[in-house]
Amino acid sequence: KNTVVGSSHGKLILVGEHSVVYGKPAIALPLPLVEVKASVQSVLNDTLIIDSMYYVGPLPDLPEKMHGIAACIKETLKYLEKPAEGLIIKLESTIPLGRGLGSSAAVAIAVVRSLYAYYGRKLSKGELLELAHLAETYAHGNPSGIDTAAASSDQPIWFQKGHQIESVQIGRPFYLVVADTGRVGDTHAAVASIKNKSTINPIDTQHSIDQLGEISEQARVALAHGNVKLLGNLLNAAQDKLTTLGVSDQGLNQLVNVARDAGAIGAKLTGGGRGGCIVALAHNMNEAKSIAIALEKANARKTWYFTLTE
Ligand code: MEV
Repeated sequence: KNTVVGSSHGKLILVGEHSVVYGKPAIALPLPLVEVKASVQSVLNDTLIIDSMYYVGPLPDLPEKMHGIAACIKETLKYLEKPAEGLIIKLESTIPLGRGLGSSAAVAIAVVRSLYAYYGRKLSKGELLELAHLAETYAHGNPSGIDTAAASSDQPIWFQKGHQIESVQIGRPFYLVVADTGRVGDTHAAVASIKNKSTINPIDTQHSIDQLGEISEQARVALAHGNVKLLGNLLNAAQDKLTTLGVSDQGLNQLVNVARDAGAIGAKLTGGGRGGCIVALAHNMNEAKSIAIALEKANARKTWYFTLTE
């Protein structure tokens, strides 16, 4: 049988990370600048082989940080009523691992798509989200599902747990810059730390979460009306709340400040925080480019910039 490929792109949370875990709405964007490809091929072997940048070998020996993807593969094959043997799954990714750009969700989505395609089976959106969510449970502990939803969507999404995913109106092009601190974030620990905060200091924590929910509501309006200034202010306000919740850190704060000094209208961390990436809003493409250059000079590992349209 020929090699069959499934792919997925990364995701970028514009506003609403963390508060989304507590039922508040969030806005996430597909990030097609980075992607994962999974190729499935048959091989004469009584096990299933994973061939990735981080690990090459049989599925049962996958290192702990890949247990989510192992669970996702096993469950997908169970759905397909196929044994976990005689296959080699090759993973190629340009999404940096653990930086809030949805690498774990994208790997899972690409794998599920590739296995369904390999066996010539039709994959519903519901099945895809369910199977990929399984992998996210290992990566995040208590995932809201926003990563899998955004990584499998080709449009900006309005996401709230327990609600239908809605589309987001984009009133004019917005110019965004993403910069990677180069440090792996620990979403699992960041989510757990807010949970912990909410037991120690429930009122203040809930207040920050409510405000983040409010920011998402206003950001939706700013996007629809093409109000760049308002969106920038909202990104800054979100960064304040996330800092209060304890999920930003020195490296993220530094890049946020560099972006603002270089002209960004607003900037904040994106994803789980405590390492990972920031997102900044620019007035135009040229400014986005110069913000990206300033961030690289300030030791950002990598930067991306793109235009957000509907
Ligand atoms: C991670 O990309 C987003 C978080 O809100 C966690 C989640 O929603 O599962 C931090």
